[in-house]
Amino acid sequence: MEERKGRRLVLFPLPLQGHVNPMLQLANILHSKGFSITIIHTTFNSPDPSKYPHFTFHFIQENLTETESSTKDILSLLSLLNIKCVAPFQDCLSTLLSDSLEEPISCLISDAIFHFTQAVSNTLNLPRIVLRTGGASSFLVFSAFPFLKEKGYLPFQESQLEEPVVEFPPLKVKDLPVINTSQPESLYELVFKMVSETKASSGLIWNTFEDLEKSAIAILRDEFDVPVFPIGPFHKFSPASSSSLTQDESCIAWLDKQEPKSVLYVSFGSLASIKESKFLEIAYGLANSKQPFLWVIRPGLVSGKEWVEQLPNGFIEDLNGRGHIVKWAPQLQVLAHFAIGAFWTHSGWNSTLESICEGVPMICMPCFTDQKVNARYVSEVWRIGLQLENGFDRGKIEKTIKRLMVEKEGEEVRNRILGLKEKANLCFSQNGSSSQSLDRLVSHILSFES
Ligand code: UDX
Repeated sequence: MEERKGRRLVLFPLPLQGHVNPMLQLANILHSKGFSITIIHTTFNSPDPSKYPHFTFHFIQENLTETESSTKDILSLLSLLNIKCVAPFQDCLSTLLSDSLEEPISCLISDAIFHFTQAVSNTLNLPRIVLRTGGASSFLVFSAFPFLKEKGYLPFQESQLEEPVVEFPPLKVKDLPVINTSQPESLYELVFKMVSETKASSGLIWNTFEDLEKSAIAILRDEFDVPVFPIGPFHKFSPASSSSLTQDESCIAWLDKQEPKSVLYVSFGSLASIKESKFLEIAYGLANSKQPFLWVIRPGLVSGKEWVEQLPNGFIEDLNGRGHIVKWAPQLQVLAHFAIGAFWTHSGWNSTLESICEGVPMICMPCFTDQKVNARYVSEVWRIGLQLENGFDRGKIEKTIKRLMVEKEGEEVRNRILGLKEKANLCFSQNGSSSQSLDRLVSHILSFES
């Protein structure tokens, strides 16, 4: 722990698990560098402050109605949060700034998707640094949305899905980071504001590392006139995690009894939901592969269902202990376990980084937005996994699992990801790229007048 700096940072995470976790991890990193930390959070999806006694928390009343806060329409939720948070956030931040008893506040660090915070910072004359919790490569594509629209790639038609996006190899049209929505214009607007308000900020922090996304980071440095700090993977430094779901530790005892590298870990993150027909294909594909598996079935994963009630009678018994199902797993611990041989993931950025750091090859099944770019990079740029695409049935699932976990092809994929794992570990050594970037970030923050 470094000497206290007598300066405070205010952090404002987007209240979704895949965003809150990295922001809290970043808070821990900056706290260890001597800054005091204040977190402003919505009442919606709030973390438990008692788990972070070294931070000060302030909760704002964004006043989402029950229907609004339980919506499955992520796009409308994000757009609404950018409207409803403005007044309570501005009130809270200006009160904090006028508190003469506290240490001076150096800057605000907000999630990139909370684009309205740039205007608030300008009004209050406080520098704003942006945290982008996704990868740099996908952000580059988001930043090109106006160009992609102009060129006719967006919005796309069914008939174009397999066409290459020649300006962004090896992406195909179907990999563009959109979400299924009846209102594509609201998505373009949200993305446009996220990018333009990032360009207007005083700095940009990434949960990534140079050796992974060198070329995307270089282009962003060139195109964005703000200092860029790739200081990830955050969880290697600080594994903070916040979820309303309780981690089921029973899976670790179950994993302890399995053969090394034999188990397929299956989890589709905190947001994705799938149709019942797809869920059943997954279940049969897993069973038919004959490979042991640990499957996270989050309540609500299957649209309109409570939990696993639609699994056929006798499905679990027929596995003879070869499968273990939980509602939520201690994912970092699971990925680090000797028994894990591969990870079937929805390709959320946190899951992708966590898998790379443990050298676990992936089967990618992206659902929306950045996940689609991440999956293409995993399968075709870094070549550390296979993507399930062009049809989805139990036969294909079984074959893909075997390709990765049993056949020679899988061994090559595993060797490549072990190489990346080594690089991920090196970036935190004293002269590693993320350590150096972090030192530059600290100096940058200290250069702000406060
Ligand atoms: C969301 C978006 O889906 C993703 O595209 C974006 O990159 C980040 O925000 P999410 O769906 O939650 O993220 O996926 P991901 O980014 O992979 O984060 C999931 C987090 O939950 C990981 O840190 C993972 O370790 C944790 N997790 C997941 C658990 O702790 N237990 C589980 O059982 C499953």
